[in-house]
Amino acid sequence: MILFINACVREGSRTLRLAKRVLSHLEGEVQECDLEREGLLPLTARTLAQRDAILREGRLDDPMLRYAREFAAAEEIVLAAPYWDLSFPASVKTYFEHINVTGVTFSYGQDGRPIGHCRAKRLIYVTTAGGPILPPNHGFAYVRDLAAGFYGIPEIALFSAQMLDVIGMDVEAILREAEDGIEAYFAKN
Ligand SMILES: Cc1cc2nc3c(=O)[nH]c(=O)nc-3n(C[C@H](O)[C@H](O)[C@H](O)COP(=O)(O)O)c2cc1C
Repeated sequence: MILFINACVREGSRTLRLAKRVLSHLEGEVQECDLEREGLLPLTARTLAQRDAILREGRLDDPMLRYAREFAAAEEIVLAAPYWDLSFPASVKTYFEHINVTGVTFSYGQDGRPIGHCRAKRLIYVTTAGGPILPPNHGFAYVRDLAAGFYGIPEIALFSAQMLDVIGMDVEAILREAEDGIEAYFAKN
């Protein structure tokens, strides 16, 4: 199963356009997690206590852990997130709060280091930005660090298109160039 985490919200989203190009190269059933539709809420005192109780009782099949189970089971993950406020929309952070569940997506070894429990061999991050994405690329770096350090996903790829809101830019040409980059990547991978 390919898990498509979709954090795009705008009509005519450029990020979604690039993500669709990526998805067209992947074989298998695509399961979309549309973050706007899911409407996940940040963890609160109540929901965190609820989740802690579920984990204490070992009820890993509880509906509350659905997103974490889905993420851990996915063979391939595509995350489409527009570049907002130097990173990604808050819905993405909220999603990670919901999937960072010890015993499902990772657990801690005796030495305190995380051991990943995710099946995916690759996570593909797709973004577009109004201006330049200046280093450090906070959104991508955050997801990369989680993928490598917590989930045990060995490969992470990034596709981006930048400067799309800068007056005078040929937006269509920039997007086509990004799509060419996606084509070139999949010709080799
Ligand atoms: C809430 C919000 C925050 C944004 N923050 C940034 C930013 O920090 N840097 C930037 O270059 N562009 C920023 N932009 C512009 C978007 O990154 C750009 O328009 C992008 O292509 C939107 O993706 P979409 O077409 O998939 O919606 C922001 C746009 C919005 C709506």
